[in-house]
Amino acid sequence: MRLFVIGATGRTGQEILSLAIPRGHTVTAYVRSPQKIASDGKRIAVWKGSPTDEERLAEAMQNHDAVFSVLGPVDTSMAGTLLQKSALATTRAMKRAKVERLAILSAAALFPGFLNGIARRILRVHMEDCLAMEKIVESSGLEWTIARPPRLTGGGSTTYRSREGAPPKMGFVLSRRAVASFMLDVVEQKSHLQKIVGIAK
Ligand SMILES: NC(=O)c1ccc[n+]([C@@H]2O[C@H](COP(=O)([O-])OP(=O)(O)OC[C@H]3O[C@@H](n4cnc5c(N)ncnc54)[C@H](OP(=O)(O)O)[C@@H]3O)[C@@H](O)[C@H]2O)c1
Repeated sequence: MRLFVIGATGRTGQEILSLAIPRGHTVTAYVRSPQKIASDGKRIAVWKGSPTDEERLAEAMQNHDAVFSVLGPVDTSMAGTLLQKSALATTRAMKRAKVERLAILSAAALFPGFLNGIARRILRVHMEDCLAMEKIVESSGLEWTIARPPRLTGGGSTTYRSREGAPPKMGFVLSRRAVASFMLDVVEQKSHLQKIVGIAK
């Protein structure tokens, strides 16, 4: 498949790239910092652009099968509206480019629960941005899947548990590699269409 990754220089984005190539996909890394991506010129192409620039996104997205969005603010305490602005630009660009499938990264803290409530209070601005992003995606009419993982870790395996509409029981962490694996799986398998999915180790 021809995959389009927004946030490809990030830690989850890098995992998507490293798993997608051995799975036989080609990837366009849509990034603000192209120097951070090692492109082989064959399986990985790089486009420089802003994730809130609908015009540029629509141009870059032509002839792709699916879009992955794994953006995150550099500092969650300083988060703003990046995720919602990007979601709006991305969903509009996808319609213009006639790309239907979207897998997007959100956060398990948006599920109900005491501990999630604490996390939502600590990360209030970022969580509001995540929720607004989700609302835009849910009302887009596209074939979306929203992934809600708990605390993300480095390293680890590609193994995950998933549950539609709720977090997997006693799942408190997940590796970014497993998040990437889940997002690739749902696109390859056309699963969890128009669902919010809790994922965890
Ligand atoms: N940390 C956790 O425990 C946790 C738990 C659950 C969910 N999440 C979610 O995971 C996401 C973060 O994933 P991650 O750790 O893989 O991210 P990350 O490593 O921090 O990477 C963030 C990506 O977003 C890009 N980016 C940030 N600000 C940008 C801007 N203004 N314009 C263009 N690109 C921008 C970065 O580009 P540059 O490389 O150019 O900076 C990078 O590609 C967050 O949205 C968060 O809600 C995190």
